[in-house]
Amino acid sequence: MKFLPSLITIYTIYTTLLLTAAPNQACEQNCRDGISLAFCNSYIQEWNPLFDNFTTNLLNNLYKDSNGNIDQVKNATNIAVLNQVNKLKVDFSRSCKDIVQNSIFLYEPKFKGQCQRPLKVIQPKNGVNWTLTDCQNQDYVCGNPPSICHFMDKYVKPRNVGILKEALSGRASVDGDFTGTITIAIEDAVTKSGAFGNDQSRMNTFLGIVTTNLRHELDHFAKDFNDGFCFKTSCDKYDDEIKSILLSFP
Ligand SMILES: *[C@@H]1O[C@H](CO)[C@@H](O)[C@H](O)[C@H]1NC(C)=O
Ligand SMILES: *[C@@H]1O[C@H](CO)[C@@H](O)[C@H](O)[C@H]1NC(C)=O
Ligand SMILES: *[C@@H]1O[C@H](CO)[C@@H](O)[C@H](O)[C@H]1NC(C)=O
Repeated sequence: MKFLPSLITIYTIYTTLLLTAAPNQACEQNCRDGISLAFCNSYIQEWNPLFDNFTTNLLNNLYKDSNGNIDQVKNATNIAVLNQVNKLKVDFSRSCKDIVQNSIFLYEPKFKGQCQRPLKVIQPKNGVNWTLTDCQNQDYVCGNPPSICHFMDKYVKPRNVGILKEALSGRASVDGDFTGTITIAIEDAVTKSGAFGNDQSRMNTFLGIVTTNLRHELDHFAKDFNDGFCFKTSCDKYDDEIKSILLSFP
């Protein structure tokens, strides 16, 4: 009966040692949220003008090739378009955080796992930030903030931007969320305006033209977003602030 307590003692010493030797170096949930939001706050500033350009182009070109007196219906439709593009922009901006979080933590190589083999940086004391030197020294992919910082240009930024572009073009594609929502809103506004009275066929012709123009502008928007969003080094101006936020998480 004597070996039992000593086994427990050995076990206790062993786990205590393990825990001391393996400090928690992962970017935890609040770090994940924080870093994703830091990226998204900068991305939103970058894509707002692209959404505005899309709105302008829509209002300018939506009625191309339609004829007759359409002033009344144009007004109702314009209001619906303004509302919808704004909603789409808000929804897309809200979805950014999850998209970026997946980009950093679920895509390969994942910023997960131990940073002890070999140990390149020492976790600072509670309340003390990691440094840019830690960022430089953590030169392999693992779960701590300095590793994400180190590979910002190589993996993190290109991955975020690529996945956000994919998400945008998916939503703006023929069967995407953007296209579906805005098409329904336009049909609704046109019907409710009563501009075509009982003339269903004139209304359908008008809607047909508007839908074609809408698809065309959505295509353009996806292309402009793809070409323009974080083009070359245009998003690098946010790096310093993002790194400083990232390095403030334990
Ligand atoms: C719709 O018409 C109202 C009243 O004529 C006008 O004040 C408003 O600016 C128009 N809105 C749009 C989006 O064309
Ligand atoms: C704005 O839209 C116009 C017309 O489609 C396009 O030529 C221009 O490249 C767009 N600007 C940006 C910044 O995408
Ligand atoms: C840690 O970084 C954060 C975010 O940049 C900053 O607000 C804070 O002042 C820093 N803390 C220290 C102790 O330097």
